[in-house]
This record gives sequence, structure tokens and C-alpha cells, in this order.
Amino acid sequence: MIKKLFMRDFRNFSEVSLSFSDKLNVLTGENGQGKTNLLEAIFFTGMLRSFRTSRVADMKKIGSQSFYISCEADSDGKWTKKLEIEYGELRKLKIDSSIVKKASEFIRNLMTVAFSPDDIAIVNGNSRIRRRFIDICISMESPSYMSALLEYSEALLSRNRLLRSVSPDIKILRAFEPVMAEKASVISKYRLDYSELLKKEMQKILCDYMRDETDFDIRYRNSSGTFSKDEYMNKFEKERNKDILRKMTSFGPQTDEFDFFLNSKLLRCFGSTGQCRFISLCLKMAELNLLLKTEENIKKAVVLVDDVTGELDSRARDYFFKVINRAGQTFFTFTSVPTDKYFKEASIYKINSGRVASLYV
Ligand SMILES: Nc1ncnc2c1ncn2[C@@H]1O[C@H](COP(=O)(O)OP(=O)(O)OP(=O)(O)O)[C@@H](O)[C@H]1O
Ligand SMILES: [Mg+2]
Repeated sequence: MIKKLFMRDFRNFSEVSLSFSDKLNVLTGENGQGKTNLLEAIFFTGMLRSFRTSRVADMKKIGSQSFYISCEADSDGKWTKKLEIEYGELRKLKIDSSIVKKASEFIRNLMTVAFSPDDIAIVNGNSRIRRRFIDICISMESPSYMSALLEYSEALLSRNRLLRSVSPDIKILRAFEPVMAEKASVISKYRLDYSELLKKEMQKILCDYMRDETDFDIRYRNSSGTFSKDEYMNKFEKERNKDILRKMTSFGPQTDEFDFFLNSKLLRCFGSTGQCRFISLCLKMAELNLLLKTEENIKKAVVLVDDVTGELDSRARDYFFKVINRAGQTFFTFTSVPTDKYFKEASIYKINSGRVASLYV
């Protein structure tokens, strides 16, 4: 969980220093004051990614060259760590004042799951958003997946850059392929396994939640059609000349798709807005349930709930609260102080133009 947070030049925050409750925290404030930005800073500290953008530079306060976040993370009294992130031209990470080079060594000190109104795009948006969702879920469970993803992405970027050049050197192109084949094989196996786990968890949630027969399915479509490193290598051999003409790598994890079906209908094509929203909420609950499988993760879990409870009816709200209650620490955002008895014991904060005050109600 997160005990203390200091931010400098992050989004609309110039300099803010905060302490939080171990359990329930409520951020209130009018529209556009910084509630989501604060959740984003917490999520970023846990995952080194934002839940709403892939453009890290957007998080620097407009006009600033860098942002800095420092956070005291605690695993239910077992350990306390000081996590520091400075993001300027380069990214600098520290744990307890020691420099950390690899992102995979930094993340997982906080296990963050964010519920946001934008989650609907996981279901009805483009395939990049689905891959991003699955990548974050698996990275949180498996640092080796995150490392494979980073190494694959770096090699892919270099191979694509070369493919765009006037006459790509085949020898250099080939040099990237063994590492890409090896990592793609790792990534696709993880994705297949996680899709199965997620599907089972979704079916359980839907059965509990809907109390009727709802048929949900996830199909992982591996664009390469293989899980084996050797077969990936063969595919590179076969596709290389076509890739040179296309000026891009045409297969691999970056073109995978995850199809979500509700009652045999592909949701992104045939789902109603209500169905897509509902399924996206259930997917996030499933992600959280899978994460909270171990005691260690429960202690490190931080759940961020941005504006998603307003539309739920009382039965759905009760179910949602039951699921997220299993996590140690939660943060909610509201435009005014909630009156629901669930929030009776919460620490309440008021955010106004990037300034945060603690409210005692
Ligand atoms: N990089 C940035 N630098 C400075 N200000 C920014 C930056 N990015 C966003 N903002 C400002 O932050 C504010 C938005 O904050 P945020 O999204 O956290 O609002 P919110 O309190 O969640 O509002 P809502 O209730 O509408 O969701 C806006 O005023 C926006 O202009
Ligand atoms: Mg917001």
C-alpha cells in the first residue's frame, strides 16, 4: 500500500505532499481539478505506465522539463520502501536511494489496478488497447513477461526502422530475428495462458453477478499462428522479403488480437454500449481477483476507482464493493463527498486546481 506521496510537476500538480489511509481514501473535487491525475501518479508509481495514455511526456506539467514522484510503499508492516521516479529526457528510478536500471525490478512493489470510465475501450476500442490491458495484467504477475515484452519491443522498433530505410541490409535485419522469435514465443505462451485464466474468472464473476446463464468467451488470436521459437524463425525467413516491401514487420505480438464474446456475439462489433461497459467492469474485477490470489499481493494491492460507481444499480454496487474490499487500500474519486455508508470511515481529500487538502467529515 501507499503511505505517503510527493509529486513535483506532475500534470497540474506543482508540488504536493500527501499521507494516505491504509484502507479507504476518497478524492473529491469539481471537474478538471486533478483527481484522475492523482490516481494516475499512483498507478504510474506501481506500473511505470499510465492507465490513460502511452505518452509519458504528457504527464510532465506543461512548461516543465521533468516530473518527479516519490512514494513510501508499505507491505502491511512487513517492509517499507521509498520508491522514486524522475522523468525528464531520461527515466531515473530509485528504491531506497539506490538506482534501479530495470523497470521489471521497480514495478510490483505496489500492485495497482485502476477502474476508469475509459475501460470500455478495452472491449469496444482498437486491438492496441486490448493488448495493453492484457500486457499490464500479465506484467503485474510476471516480471519475466515484462522483460520479454520490452526486449521484443526494442528489437521490433529497430527492425521496423531498418525496414523503412531505402535498401535495408538483410544481414542486419536477420540479426534482430532470433531475439524477436525467442521473446515472441514467450509472450504468446503467456498471453494464451492468461486468456484462459481470465476467461474462467470472468465466467465465475458473471455467474455470481448476473445469477443467470451468460455465456462469455475470450479467444486469443495469435497473429503468427505459432508458439514455437523455431517456427517464428521460419516465419521470419518466409516473410522477410514481403516485410521489406511492406516496410514493416507484419506479424508477431504487436498484431495479436483478443476477441471477447458475449452469448456468441463478438462484443466490439455487436455489443451495446451498456454491455461493453458492463463487461469492461467485469474484466477489471477479474483482473483484480486474479491478482489477489496470493497474500503477498493482497498486502501490496492498491485499487484506484475513478468515477465508475455512479452508473451502477445498488446490487451491482454491492457486488463491486465486495470484490474491491479484498484489496488492502482503495482510492475513489467523486465530485462531492459521498454519503453512502460504505465511505463512513474513509479519509477524504479535496482537490482544487492541483492543490490537495485533507477534509475531516
Ligand atoms: N501535463 C499537464 N500539465 C498541466 N496541466 C495538465 C496536464 N495534463 C492535464 N492537465 C490539467 O489537469 C486537469 C485535469 O485533471 P483531471 O483529469 O485529474 O481532472 P479530474 O479532477 O479528474 O476531473 P473530472 O471530474 O472531470 O474527471 C485539467 O485542468 C487539465 O488541463
Ligand atoms: Mg477525472
